[in-house]
Amino acid sequence: MSDYKTLIVETDQGVTLIRLNRPKALNALNTELLDELVAALDAAEADEAVRCVVLTGSERAFAAGADIVEMSSKSYPEMFKSDYFTRQASRVERFRKPIIAAVAGYALGGGCELAMMCDFIIAAETARFGQPEINLGVSPGIGGSQRLTRFVGKSKAMDMILTARQMDAAEAERSGLVSRVVPADALVEEAMAAARKIAALSPLAVMMNKEMVEAAYETTLSQGVKLERRLFHSLFAFEDQKEGMAAFTEKRPAAFKGR
Ligand code: CAA
Repeated sequence: MSDYKTLIVETDQGVTLIRLNRPKALNALNTELLDELVAALDAAEADEAVRCVVLTGSERAFAAGADIVEMSSKSYPEMFKSDYFTRQASRVERFRKPIIAAVAGYALGGGCELAMMCDFIIAAETARFGQPEINLGVSPGIGGSQRLTRFVGKSKAMDMILTARQMDAAEAERSGLVSRVVPADALVEEAMAAARKIAALSPLAVMMNKEMVEAAYETTLSQGVKLERRLFHSLFAFEDQKEGMAAFTEKRPAAFKGR
C-alpha cells in the first residue's frame, strides 16, 4: 500500500497496479496526480521485483482529461515557463518496463493521451476515447494529435480532434487503438493476467522487445530492422536465452533469472 493522495498503488506477483484516484473530478490529470504518477513509476522502475505495470482508473473514467480547473486561469508565460506536463509525460515515455493501460469509461483529452503513451490498451466495453479539447478552444497537449493519428490514421484522427467525436470500445478496437475489448467487470483481471504473463518472462528480453517496437514509431524501416537485429543478437549474451531455449528442448517451463 502507499500514501499517495491521488493514486492507489499495489504490487503483487511482479506487477504494480496503479489506479488513478480523483473520483470527484473523474480522474482529471492535475499536477499533483501527474507528479505522483512520476513517483510511482520511479519506484516501479527502481524495484527489480516489479516486471510490469498496469495503469487504470475507475469504472466511470480512466481519466476525463487534463484538469480544466487547474488550467483555466493559466497564462501563456506560465504554461511555457513551466513546460506544462512535459516532465511528467516524458517520464511515462521513458519508462522501460511494460506498462498496460486498462481503460473503462471516459479516456478523454489528456486521459486518452496518457492511455496512448502506455505500451498497449485493454478496453472495457464501456470505454470511450476522445480528444475534445477543441470544445474548450484549445488542442491536445500531451501528444494526442501525433499518437492518435499514428494509431487510427488521419481521417479518424481529424474527425475526432476537429469535431470532438468520441469513439466507443468497438470502434477503438476496429481502428487499432486498443488491443482487446473485455467485459467491464473483467477489465482489471484481464490486464493483470497479461501483466503476470509478462512478469514471468525474461525481463531483459521484455525490455528489448519493448524498445524495438517503440523504434517503429521513431525511425525508418531499415534503421528499425537494423536495431531489431542488433538487439536480437545481443539477447544471446544473456543466461535467459540459454535457459529459454534449453527449457523448450527439455520440455519444461523456463525459469528466467533476468541475467
Ligand atoms: N477537469 C476538471 N474537472 C473535470 C474534468 C476535467 N477534465 N472532467 C470532469 N470533471 C469534473 C466535473 O467538473 C464534475 O465536477 P463537479 O461534480 O464538481 O461539478 C465531475 O468531474 C463529474 O463530471 P460531470 O458532472 O461533467 O460528469 P458527466 O457524466 O455529466 O460528464 C464528461 C462526463 C463527459 C467526461 C464531462 O465531465 C466532460 O466533458 N469533461 C471534460 C472532458 C474534456 O474536455 N477533457 C479535455 C480536457 S483538456 C485536456 O485534456 C488538454 C490536454 O490534452 C493536455
